Amino acid sequence: MLDIINQNGMLLLGCGKMGSAMLEGWLDRGVEPSAVWVNDPHPSDYVKALVPHDLNLNAPLPAAPALCVIAVKPQMMGEALPAIAALGTGNTLFVSIAAGTTLGALAKALGPQARIIRAMPNTPAAIARGITAIIGNANATAEDITLATAALSAVGQVVRLSSEDQMDAVTALSGSGPAYVFHLIETMAAGGEAQGLPAELALHLARATVAGAGALAELAPESPAELRVNVTSPGGTTAAALGVLMDAETGFPPLLNKAIAAATERGRALGKS
Ligand SMILES: NC(=O)c1ccc[n+]([C@@H]2O[C@H](COP(=O)([O-])OP(=O)(O)OC[C@H]3O[C@@H](n4cnc5c(N)ncnc54)[C@H](OP(=O)(O)O)[C@@H]3O)[C@@H](O)[C@H]2O)c1
Repeated sequence: MLDIINQNGMLLLGCGKMGSAMLEGWLDRGVEPSAVWVNDPHPSDYVKALVPHDLNLNAPLPAAPALCVIAVKPQMMGEALPAIAALGTGNTLFVSIAAGTTLGALAKALGPQARIIRAMPNTPAAIARGITAIIGNANATAEDITLATAALSAVGQVVRLSSEDQMDAVTALSGSGPAYVFHLIETMAAGGEAQGLPAELALHLARATVAGAGALAELAPESPAELRVNVTSPGGTTAAALGVLMDAETGFPPLLNKAIAAATERGRALGKS
């Protein structure tokens, strides 16, 4: 990946939170600043500080960069895409991380020859612990998937979808999911506070518990269900809490099912608008 980018260059359209996280990952992995073009009307100090290192900021577009990553907000697409449509002749691979913007909508703006990959990352990308799901259009080749995977691996794991239909559910699960977990931390802390703990201590305990349990769930060979059973003694404290949380009418299962269904539905509606 690095070779082809260092040889032919890459363009990053939109360099806000996600764009900057990716840029940092690419540079850490050996992409030369001189091989990177960044287009953003209000670049951050981080990006501006790379200009003396030969990063191309708001410069004329390279003729045929190997990769163009589109990281503007979905509502800015209409304005942003015409500026890069000239690259849609087939020599550049486009990777869009914009939520809700379909492969069809991207192809309409970038032309019938454009090789396009749609990706859905999540915010732990900021610390290179994200997970990104990708799907390519009919023009995208196996090499394109490899290049996109390598580029997006700079901010975490990458998984491949079998159809674009899955993207709304992915958005609802892993795209929006970090917010659910942040809310879990908030509400666990509030629950501890309600039982008499000082606010700061409750938040510290909740944050470290979710982070530690998340890491254990990712690294341990056991399934999450096995890990749960392992810490639940019959008649004990965990069992008392799980009796509430696993209630089929009012617990996590119906609640999270409803939340993820609402997010999926919203994603579908945004994709059509
Ligand atoms: N953050 C997430 O958790 C997350 C997760 C999954 C997917 N995404 C997707 O990632 C994309 C970027 O999100 P973000 O959180 O990084 O947003 P962001 O911080 O607002 O970054 C977008 C950047 O694009 C710039 N921009 C606006 N119009 C432009 C144009 N015409 N040409 C070039 N650059 C332009 C913005 O500049 P101004 O600030 O001056 O407008 C801003 O710096 C979105 O499409 C979002 O759906 C984000």
